Parts: sequence; C-alpha cells; structure tokens
Amino acid sequence: MSPAPTSRTRSFWDDAVVYQLYVRSFADSDGDGVGDLGGVIRRLDHIAGLGAGAIWLNPCYPSPQADHGYDIADYRGVNPEYGDLGTFDRLVAEAHARGLRILMDLVPNHCSERHPWFAAALAAGPGSPERARFVFRDGRGDGPPNNWQSVFGGPAWTRVTEPDGTPGQWYLHLFAREQPDFDWRHPAVLAEFDDILRFWFDRGVDGFRIDVCHGLIKDAALRDWDGGGYNAYSWNRPEVHEIFRRWRALAEGYERDLLLVGEVWVPDPADLDDYLRPDELHQAFSFDLLVQPWEAGALRGAAERAVARTAVHGAPAAWTLANHDVHRAVTRYGIVRPEAPPESNDAFAALMRPRGEVDVERGERRARAALLLLLALPGSVFLYQGEELGLPEVLDLPDAARQDPVFHRSGGREKGRDGCRVPLPWSATGPAFGFSTGTPWLPQPDWFAGYAAEAQDETSTLALHRRAIRTRRELGLGEPGPVEWLGTGDDAVLAFRRGAVVCVVNTGTTDFTPPAGWGEPVLHSAEPGVVTPDAAAWLRAVDRG
Ligand code: GLC
Repeated sequence: MSPAPTSRTRSFWDDAVVYQLYVRSFADSDGDGVGDLGGVIRRLDHIAGLGAGAIWLNPCYPSPQADHGYDIADYRGVNPEYGDLGTFDRLVAEAHARGLRILMDLVPNHCSERHPWFAAALAAGPGSPERARFVFRDGRGDGPPNNWQSVFGGPAWTRVTEPDGTPGQWYLHLFAREQPDFDWRHPAVLAEFDDILRFWFDRGVDGFRIDVCHGLIKDAALRDWDGGGYNAYSWNRPEVHEIFRRWRALAEGYERDLLLVGEVWVPDPADLDDYLRPDELHQAFSFDLLVQPWEAGALRGAAERAVARTAVHGAPAAWTLANHDVHRAVTRYGIVRPEAPPESNDAFAALMRPRGEVDVERGERRARAALLLLLALPGSVFLYQGEELGLPEVLDLPDAARQDPVFHRSGGREKGRDGCRVPLPWSATGPAFGFSTGTPWLPQPDWFAGYAAEAQDETSTLALHRRAIRTRRELGLGEPGPVEWLGTGDDAVLAFRRGAVVCVVNTGTTDFTPPAGWGEPVLHSAEPGVVTPDAAAWLRAVDRG
C-alpha cells in the first residue's frame, strides 16, 4: 500500500519529520554485528511511534565499505551484509503500510574503485573512452596534475600503475582514494544516473537525499586552488545546476510526490538559493543552523536566514541538528572549554566536529531545547538516529577500533565520524544492548545502557521527542507560514510566534518568565512555568482576540 497521493501544492516534505537511518548501526537481525534491512523492518514501529513521516536510508548498496557505503560498486543492488532487493522491497512495503516514505541516498560524485566502470578504466589505459568517464590526467612531472586536496586528508589524486606495469596517470578523488570521481561532463554518466533514479523510483522509493551536490562539476581546466579554505574550483561550479534540472524533470515525470533533498556545503548560505530554484532541488539541508553556537542571536540569525531562503523560491527548509558526519548535538552543545581544532582539509570540519571538554548534562538540556526550536519552525526536520535517545558522541573509541577514512587519512589528527555511528542501544541489558546477538562492528561503551530505548521513561528525551512531534503535528507548527520574532528584553532569549503558538528558547544563565500574553504552557524541555537556562517552551494563546 502506498501513502495516499498528495496534491501538487502540498508535499510531504513541507513539514515531515524524516528519520535518518544509518543502516549499519540501527539494528542487526542476523547476528553478524552489522545492522541490516531485516533489523530496520523489525524496528519500524520505533520510527512510526516517534511520529516520523519518512526515513532516509544512508547508502545500502553493494560497497566495499571504504567509506561505509559512500563508495558504491553497484547502484542497483543491496549490500549483501544488509539483505537483498527482496528485503528492500519488503522494507518499502512495510514502511508504506505505516505511512512512512522511504528516501534513498544518491551518491553521484564518485563510485567505488570496485565499480565495473573504474575497473574497466584502469584496464583500458590512457586516452581510452573508459577513462573518460572519470577524471584521469597526466601528472606534472612526478607530481599530481594540480594541488587539490582530499576532504578526508592528503592529496585529491592517486597515481595508477598502467596495464604495462609503468607508473601512469592520476585520477581525481575529492574523498578517499577508493572513491574515484565521475566526470559529470560526460554524457554516459548523465545517462547512467537517469537510469539509476528510475530504477529506484520504479521500485517505490519516495525520493533521494543527494550526496555532495556542490561537488559534481569541477573547473574545466582543473586550475590550482589558491590554498585558502573552500576550493572554488572543485566546489559549487555554476554548471552543476543543469544536473539538478535534469533530475527534477525526471522526478516530475512520475505521478507521485518524489523528493530531491541536497547535501550542499557552501561558504555563504545564500548560495543555496540557486540549488532551490523551482526546477532544481526541492530542499537543501540548513547546515547554517547546525553549525551555530548555543547563543540566542546566532540561532535566531540562522533560523531567519533559512526562513528568508524559503521565501525566495518557496522551497521548505530542511532543518537538522545532527547527521552521520557531525558530532552529536548533546556533545556539540555541551562543550564548556573549546579546544583549537586540528588542521583539516575540510573547511567545515571544525564546525561539524568541534572539540573540547564536554558537560554532558548541559549538552542534554540544550539539545532538548534545540529540538523544540526546530520543531516549531516551518519546514521538515531531519532527525538522525540516536538523537531521540539523547545519545552523546562516543569520543573515546580506541584508535584500533576506528574505521572512518577521515581518521586514517588525517593521520589520526582528526578523530573522524565513528563516534556518532556507534550501534544504537535498544535495551539496557543483554548482548550489544539489543542491537545484535553478535559483536557490534564498533564497540558500544558501558554507559550506553543508560540511553537504551527501552529504559527511557516519561521524563526522557525519547518521550520528549514523541510528545513534541505529536504536538507539532496537532498544532500545525511545521506547516508553511510566517515566523514572527518577538522581543524578549534579554539577548540570551529568543522567541517567535507561529500562529497561536510562541516558542521561547533560553540560552542564558538566568530564568526567563514569559509575558502572560504569550499564552499557556503547552510543552517544555525542562519544567513548566518559567523557562530555565538552557530550556525551551511552547506556549499557546488561549484567545488571541
Ligand atoms: C557526504 C556524506 C559523507 C561521505 C561523503 C563522501 O558528505 O555525508 O558521509 O563520506 O559525502 O561521499
């Protein structure tokens, strides 16, 4: 059973809560210590019970897992560790039966070095049509063709050994060396991805989260980067928009709502506007809010910018506080003594994964308050798995357990992203806290017991998520509509009105008492009545006259 079709003017992503599901770490059904689609099916009621309307699955295609699925060897299959196409079809049917849409993760910038096209390119040699689908170039002397750096550390080029055994050309990889970049100026690449989109749309998926949208097209001359921060020759090139226009047209060819939501990292959030033109992506994540410090002015600024963005092309905001690349919200908001970030090739690393001493309780209070902020704003909210349990980042994984190429390629300077990918705790006791009957692929710390889904009571972060998402839907808080900012007389307190509801967030150190005219308490992240430091509340005008 498919979800009921919605009209053209109203789409599910206008105000959906989308649960981001990192398949490897969600639930394991066969005891190999690795999450799988069977595990997702078993635990679907957890997601439906939260009140989510859709699931974004991180990549679950056949992949050698050099970057946990972002290195794809076959775009039309399922990683055997996770199941097969039959399991996938079952998941789509079971999700749809619960009113949950399914979004896949589309990874167009690069494939796996084990993709048949790349194997053919290596075998065929310089100048061949097989190499033209990637970015192969001769080096400059013994060095790479230009000075671009990989996001994950080290140079963005790797030299191959030619079929005759001699050191040969170099290929471009903006990420790990196992992830060769496609040449998106090549018509065969365009045609292949049209077909991949149709393959999954025809199987019933409801859209795609699109990886690294800003990276698909590179400067035609591959000019050297000037060395300062963001490489404007490898990212955010104007020709990239033609690709999104093509996919939007393809999606519009179907009779149902299909979402294209982009991961777009740009230095100026206003650059997102171009990606959100009415014939391009439906949405792009609002990372601007995610990277703000816990300060009312900063949070309000980012929220205002994203809301203003919506007014430009009518694309609803896609709010998020966490994902599989960033430190968990509890940990980011809990930093009490920030540390200088390590040197990184990734212009956003310091913002995504800030370091320093963490006060977990403070972080928890703030993450709960931030949730109420997000859920009161118009747009859809993407909720990364484990955030609903209030999980902090696992910062002290042993180096030997770390798998993220960011850790390895940066020579350990950056700890990377494993700490937000540790398998979820479902029960406080039992093997792997209910994640698996086997040994989990990343070790879970003992303190995970305290965050287990089954151990969360009525005052817990999980209960707050369920209540807040339900209340948001009942009050229509996510629906399109104005955000009216209210004066609070306190720089550390932000407040805005959405219809009859006022959302108040206190980032300061003293209590805030909302004026009586703002209404009666509906929901709070800490306690009813006054809004205590690091707390938020929703109030509702009883009679607005
Ligand atoms: C995106 C993904 C990240 C991945 C990278 C390369 O940023 O979110 O997890 O490593 O692209 O595909």
